[in-house]
Amino acid sequence: MRWWDSEVGYEVYLRSFADGNGDGVGDFPGLAAKLDYLAWLGVGIVWITPFYPSPMRDFGYDVADYVGVDPLFGTLDDFDACIAEAHRLGLRVLIDLVPNHTSDQHRWFHASRSDPDGSMRGYYHWRDPAVGGGPPNNWVSHFGGPAWSYDEGSQQYYLHLFLPEQPDLNWSNPDLVREFDGVLEFWLDREVDGFRVDVAQGLVKNMLMPDNPQRFPVTPEMSPRQVFGCYEHRYDLDQAGNTAIYRRWRAIAERYGAMLLGEVYLRDNNPNLVSRYVSKQDGLHRAFYFAPMHTPWEPSAMWSTFRDALDAAPRDFSWALSSHDDPRAPTRLGGGELGRARALAYSVLLFALPGLPFLYQGDELGLEEADVPPEQRQDPVGSRNQNPADGRDGCRTPMPWAPGPAGGFTHGAEPWLPIARSDDETVAVQRGDPGSILHKYRELLAVRRALGDLHACELEWLTDRSAPVIGFRRGDCVCALNAADAPADLALPPGQWRMAFSSERPAGAVFESAMTIDAPEGVLLARIPRSLG
Ligand code: NOJ
Repeated sequence: MRWWDSEVGYEVYLRSFADGNGDGVGDFPGLAAKLDYLAWLGVGIVWITPFYPSPMRDFGYDVADYVGVDPLFGTLDDFDACIAEAHRLGLRVLIDLVPNHTSDQHRWFHASRSDPDGSMRGYYHWRDPAVGGGPPNNWVSHFGGPAWSYDEGSQQYYLHLFLPEQPDLNWSNPDLVREFDGVLEFWLDREVDGFRVDVAQGLVKNMLMPDNPQRFPVTPEMSPRQVFGCYEHRYDLDQAGNTAIYRRWRAIAERYGAMLLGEVYLRDNNPNLVSRYVSKQDGLHRAFYFAPMHTPWEPSAMWSTFRDALDAAPRDFSWALSSHDDPRAPTRLGGGELGRARALAYSVLLFALPGLPFLYQGDELGLEEADVPPEQRQDPVGSRNQNPADGRDGCRTPMPWAPGPAGGFTHGAEPWLPIARSDDETVAVQRGDPGSILHKYRELLAVRRALGDLHACELEWLTDRSAPVIGFRRGDCVCALNAADAPADLALPPGQWRMAFSSERPAGAVFESAMTIDAPEGVLLARIPRSLG
């Protein structure tokens, strides 16, 4: 067992977690002061989104210096203090590594752009215009428009799979590969416990830069995401060379006992492709598998998603229902009480699967997508888009800590995004109410921790594709989720089974041979040992 095998992770979107200095943006002092809340909640790993010096065009995913802290978030000393406090509380910390691209304000890019003959030119992808003019190939940016921008000075194009202000690094360049080893070591020496690797599927490109095959015609009303999906990303994503980089990083991480967790976002969520990043046990330790965010609330689709995922990677995926990039789960799952009930029930299943589950900040409060008025929206994905609803602001509004206009998030300036929450959604109110959703999540985490078989035993399916209930067994534990519209029965393995956790009712009842599960409801059952004698 490795230290992460029995843990639940928690994503901290740093800008929106807690503001210590009153400038309206979350920071390290703010986070450090709230870590005891995360320890109380019962998570074991905290993933912190990027905090490096950055012009913030993509809110920190445009890094201008890999080995520093942006003053907006504090100082390197604040960072060290935060890590020390986390460790004091028994929490491990993963930081976000953004290796696919830098900011266009990174000194590497300045050097690369200003000196076409210099040694740094090859840190990025520069190409001549196509014959007849225009971008060198048909690749498109995730965030809209071509993946190439023209540089007047050198009359060449540079590649960016995201914003033009996020030029892609050239991972076929051995100097860059070596230089990056030092970035990992810098943070590992500062005692981080590992990295979440941004765009882990994207680092290496096919250096011949052929056109990607087009699958569907592009039409003007399509969102960037839809346009991106019109192409088969045969040459810009998921290239075989990625795994060599992770093998190299794995060797570094192992020296420190650290973990590597990849964001492997591949279209169509093909688990066999994602599993290649983790299955040989010599690359990434875990990879986020995003299908649960995109699978409809429908038992056979959900069952197939998990069966296929676990066939491809029996214990190496990471699971999440929400993130700073996607609409929050309760909204996606129907909204209101129903959406919240489904999200909690679904979490029961994700937390009982083999792998490493994550909560996104506010999941434990049952937060839905926030309504951010157009004039307060910030995300470039929204503003570069025909349909501003494509932006990610609704899942990024600040954590509501306590009632009041600034939600206990900041004591000073206006928060960078509106708080947009009711008093009942705050940590303070929910913490004081034993019947709140926050207490349900906390109880779920405690029960999960206590049921050792959920970390140690193989999964055995109890149901199949045609059943309304998704059920499986791990040793002396059973997990079941009713994802249909009406109560349904689950046949239980032999023995007596005690309700250890239910998303809908108190624990304690004992069942034998079968039980009826509400809709929606997620349950964890523990087998009662047969009395001796
Ligand atoms: C994935 C990150 O989660 C997202 O927020 C970011 O915009 C892109 N990668 C680009 O770094």
